[in-house]
Amino acid sequence: MSAIGDEPVRITNEEYKVRQQRLFSQMRPDDLLLITSPKTSVRSNDVHYVYRNSSDMLYLCGWEDPDSLFMAHNEEGNWVVSLFVQPKDVLKEIWEGRRPGAEGAIEHWPIDMAHTYEELSDLLSNRLEKCSRVLVKTGCNLDVDSIVNDAFTAKSRSRQKFGTGPNSIEDPSPRINELRLRKSAAEIQQMRHSAMIASQAHIHAMRNTKPGIGEWQLEGVIEGVFKWLGSSGIAYPCIIGSGENATILHYNVNSDTCDDGEILLIDAGCEYRGYASDITRSWPVNGKFTDAQKEIYQLVLDAQTAAINACVVGNEYDAPHEAARKVLAEGLIELGVINQNLDEALCAENGQLKSWYMHNTGHWLGLDVHDVGIYRPDGKARILEEGMVLTVEPGLYFGSWRPDVECPERYSNIGIRIEDDVLVTANGPDVLSKDCPKTIDEIQSIVGTA
Ligand code: GLY
Ligand code: MN
Ligand code: MN
Repeated sequence: MSAIGDEPVRITNEEYKVRQQRLFSQMRPDDLLLITSPKTSVRSNDVHYVYRNSSDMLYLCGWEDPDSLFMAHNEEGNWVVSLFVQPKDVLKEIWEGRRPGAEGAIEHWPIDMAHTYEELSDLLSNRLEKCSRVLVKTGCNLDVDSIVNDAFTAKSRSRQKFGTGPNSIEDPSPRINELRLRKSAAEIQQMRHSAMIASQAHIHAMRNTKPGIGEWQLEGVIEGVFKWLGSSGIAYPCIIGSGENATILHYNVNSDTCDDGEILLIDAGCEYRGYASDITRSWPVNGKFTDAQKEIYQLVLDAQTAAINACVVGNEYDAPHEAARKVLAEGLIELGVINQNLDEALCAENGQLKSWYMHNTGHWLGLDVHDVGIYRPDGKARILEEGMVLTVEPGLYFGSWRPDVECPERYSNIGIRIEDDVLVTANGPDVLSKDCPKTIDEIQSIVGTA
């Protein structure tokens, strides 16, 4: 396996504190901020799903364990951050793993006070009485919702007596999302590393592809490389579809064999220290593109190049989408798949392009694979800025199984998507996933060589 370079430096507590202060600077002194963690979830009987804390918790303090709450209140002009965590517990630690506990949390995490989750009810109720607005995303943690609800009920009962307690509740997500949309230098390093690992996984899958191999076997290769190279695993379920499965956008059963003559589409990204990569490559199972496959592949690649070139500071966020759509429509007119002129082909209502290209060209990428950030704030297209990261993923899908449209026979069951992760910089687009091969020659020289 080729080297992927040194591990990036971890995000520092100083950086977490800068993020916290950016958020606090948009708050009122009588606010109480609560960032919840999702509850653990049972898969079946005694087995739980692998736990992942909320991206907002990871963003603001890097705490990964369940039964946690991030709380911030203002005291004489200063914001005080408290973290509630699982207590140290020898028996639990023997069974489930070591815990930092409140002692470890205060020593190593970017917080001012640490408490155990068992103290949550009392301490949170107390804080709620003293605030007038609660900033919390409800519906994520029912323990916290219930304590907050009780505070509102208590407030209405005692309003006339004491006049204390919260008056309003607001979701802090829009503010946090705006911060998360622009990545810091340290975040970009984690994301570049995530994309480097995912690129290696795709290369290994290419090498191991040959007629007769199972989609599930390539899933094993991909996930094995993700772990081998130090990521925590998948950022989303791998999409590994051969033949007609390549024409199903989010196919992820991965239970067919890959047959001679088919195109295989793999959309797979890992999570590295919480940060997602999201890469798609499409290649011939037997290592050699047919002429028809080449025509579609090169067209999607040209569309992707045009879209990546549109990822520049000052462009609207949908400039890459419009660039890709134009190239695809022109190409399909040229190939005789579309019998409309360019304007007609691109028309949202009746244009023929959407029969073969039915999704957007990208999305924000970060701690979530479909990362946060409003695409049209105040109804106006978002303007791309330095530090934003988005995917660029045009595709064409000719599913001959589809009853809604007549698939051109020449391109029957060809599904191609090419997806890269692109950082917007002052010097133009920086493709974080550039290690992943994508020209026809590169792919043909790699597939089946394991
Ligand atoms: N991997 C899902 C997507 O590309 O949006
Ligand atoms: Mn994507
Ligand atoms: Mn993807």
